[in-house]
Amino acid sequence: MPSKVFSAATVGLEAQIIEVEVEVSHGLRRFSIVGLPDKAVEESKERVGAAIKSTGLKSPHSQTERVLVSLAPADLKKEGSLYDLPIALGYLTASEQIKFDSQDKIFIGELALDGKLRPIKGALSFALVAKEKSCPELILPQANASEAALIKGLKVIGVKDLEQVIKYLEGQIQISPFKIETEQFVSLKNSSIDLGWIKGQQFAKRALEIAAAGNHNLLMEGPPGTGKTLLAKAIPSILPQLSFEEILEVTKIYSASGLLSKEKPLISQRPFRSPHHTSSEAALIGGGNPPRPGEITLAHRGVLFLDEFPEFHRDVLESLRQPLEEGTITVLRARHRLTFPAKFMLVAATNPCPCGYRNDPERECTCSSSQVAKYRRKLSGPLMDRIDLFVDVPQIKYEKLVNVDPEHSSSKIKDGVKKAREIQRERFSLEKVLVNSEMIIPQIKKYCQIDAKSGDLLRKFVNSGKLSARGYHRVLKVARTIADLENSENILYDHLSEALAYRIQEKK
Ligand SMILES: Nc1ncnc2c1ncn2[C@@H]1O[C@H](COP(=O)(O)OP(=O)(O)O)[C@@H](O)[C@H]1O
Ligand SMILES: [Mg+2]
Repeated sequence: MPSKVFSAATVGLEAQIIEVEVEVSHGLRRFSIVGLPDKAVEESKERVGAAIKSTGLKSPHSQTERVLVSLAPADLKKEGSLYDLPIALGYLTASEQIKFDSQDKIFIGELALDGKLRPIKGALSFALVAKEKSCPELILPQANASEAALIKGLKVIGVKDLEQVIKYLEGQIQISPFKIETEQFVSLKNSSIDLGWIKGQQFAKRALEIAAAGNHNLLMEGPPGTGKTLLAKAIPSILPQLSFEEILEVTKIYSASGLLSKEKPLISQRPFRSPHHTSSEAALIGGGNPPRPGEITLAHRGVLFLDEFPEFHRDVLESLRQPLEEGTITVLRARHRLTFPAKFMLVAATNPCPCGYRNDPERECTCSSSQVAKYRRKLSGPLMDRIDLFVDVPQIKYEKLVNVDPEHSSSKIKDGVKKAREIQRERFSLEKVLVNSEMIIPQIKKYCQIDAKSGDLLRKFVNSGKLSARGYHRVLKVARTIADLENSENILYDHLSEALAYRIQEKK
């Protein structure tokens, strides 16, 4: 009789149940796997054979046995080594060497030749699908147990090798379900850079505060060594904590990318990703075969920092347009379209020209006008239209450099950001929006009313071509955030003009 055990596969970040059926019959020796296996699944035969041998049981390599493994649904591509464990158990059951109730269990794990179980990617997604399908028990490599145990109401059994799994299934040993206290991994410490350490740059700090409060995109421009990189790295210190739902959302991405460890099974701080300017499009936005999340997805609910912005390849920068607008990225894959989340705050930094000293009162710029034009071309057009706050980060004077700046410590600014976020949460409690930057046009109409004087000001900018239609909506959202930071129900003229001041820098 064929045996049947359950396993699971990931498609993008989501998991799906896979049935592993094994039939053993008499005939000429043959071991085949059907159901669109990739090379790693094909090679499972060798690992499974050796691992079973290590337990002392009979492995599927005798001369008179035909073994057929079917992975269903048959039309879904099966990738990776995670089916080793269910295939081994399916074979042992079909060849009547072991017996257990396979109904309510999901098995995942790669086998080493000596029978040890190796960690796999995506444990959190497997735990989620197990819970969703009301399957009470998930059996997987010990190293992945803490990750899966983040999902409550599920029996997570972490095992070290094939022999231990067999003994457990046959009732010879007990293994208690893995439990973790999530609080122990939720660290309250944020980034190690405090805004208070950075001297001067009040305008930039104010822009950072607004960006953090409403999750707006930001570009900093200034000569080398004025603190742009430092300012960007301080942003996580003023962002609010992730909620538990957000922690799961982000952790799932890192789990599927194989970036978690036993010691750190959960991402509890907002991600800060700073890919190098030589990064490829696939590395930045995701892709490859099988498609993997890129930096923009790894930055979900956190910050994507593009330092030396104009040095990035043009196509790579252009590919950011869709995710910046939609908060998701769609990657094409053979017959599927995979969608990954990508709600991040874009923070970019740039010098004014290749040498860095254009318009500097003290130093002379050594760039030719064509070099400057080429450099600045990347700082214009559709991508720039998606930046909300443009801010100058100039050289600062000695007096400012030696003074401390207690007014702008991260903890003070973070308090204000937190209050502004609470106002937003309340305002959007019935909408599918968390922060001001996510508002779409009907919500902007509803929540960003302005008075006649403010309307006149905006009209001037739009009619003179200084503000695009997208820019117009973005300015209103930033003004909403500035009003929230002041706990003002209405957007006042001052709020709007401050928002505009950060916007129109792009035209200089
Ligand atoms: N405003 C500032 N306050 C304190 N230190 C600064 C400031 N600006 C620059 N520095 C110092 O200069 C170094 C380089 O700054 P960085 O942020 O890398 O500059 P940029 O990215 O603008 O070229 C920092 O590590 C820090 O030691
Ligand atoms: Mg820098």
